[in-house]
Amino acid sequence: MTKTITTTTLNQFHSVNLVTEVIAHADMEDREDWVPLADGVLFKPLFFDVTQGGWSNLLSVQPGCRLPRHYHTATVHGFTIRGSWHYPEHDWTAHAGTYIFEPPGEAHTLVVDDGGEEMVTFFVTRGSLVFTDAAGNVTGYEDVFTRLEQARAHYRNIGKNPADLDALIR
Ligand SMILES: [Fe+2]
Repeated sequence: MTKTITTTTLNQFHSVNLVTEVIAHADMEDREDWVPLADGVLFKPLFFDVTQGGWSNLLSVQPGCRLPRHYHTATVHGFTIRGSWHYPEHDWTAHAGTYIFEPPGEAHTLVVDDGGEEMVTFFVTRGSLVFTDAAGNVTGYEDVFTRLEQARAHYRNIGKNPADLDALIR
C-alpha cells in the first residue's frame, strides 16, 4: 500500500533534522581573513565537515607559486573562478570556468605559472591531503582538523575571534 506524504509528515521530518545549513560569504577583494597555507597560497574556509571529514574552501595561488605534491584519501571537486593552473603530472590546464573531479589517490602538484594572474578555485575536499616527496615518501598531511586549527590561529593573529569559525563547523 502506498503511503501518502502529507505536509505534516514533511514538517515532522524537518523537526528531527538537527543539522542546520551553513551560510558563508567570501570577500574576493579583502583577503584579511583568508588563511595563509604556503608561500603565495591562501584559503578562505567556507565549511568544516568534522562529522564526515572534509571541507569546502576557496583556494588562491599567486603566479609563480604552488601547492606541494600530494594525494587525496577521498574525492575532490573543483571549479576554477579566476586565473589558470595545472598539474605537471597531467597534460591539461584549468581555466576560469573549468570543473574538475579528482578520484582518491591521484597525486599532483598544483602550479600557477609565473607571469599570469592569481588563480582562485572553489574546492570541495573529502578526507585528507597526504604530502609526499618526489620518491613518494610521506612528508605531512592536512585534514579538516589541521585546516580548522590553521584558520583559528590566523584569526588570532589578525585580532578576530576564532569562535567566529564555529559557524562553519558541522
Ligand atoms: Fe589536490
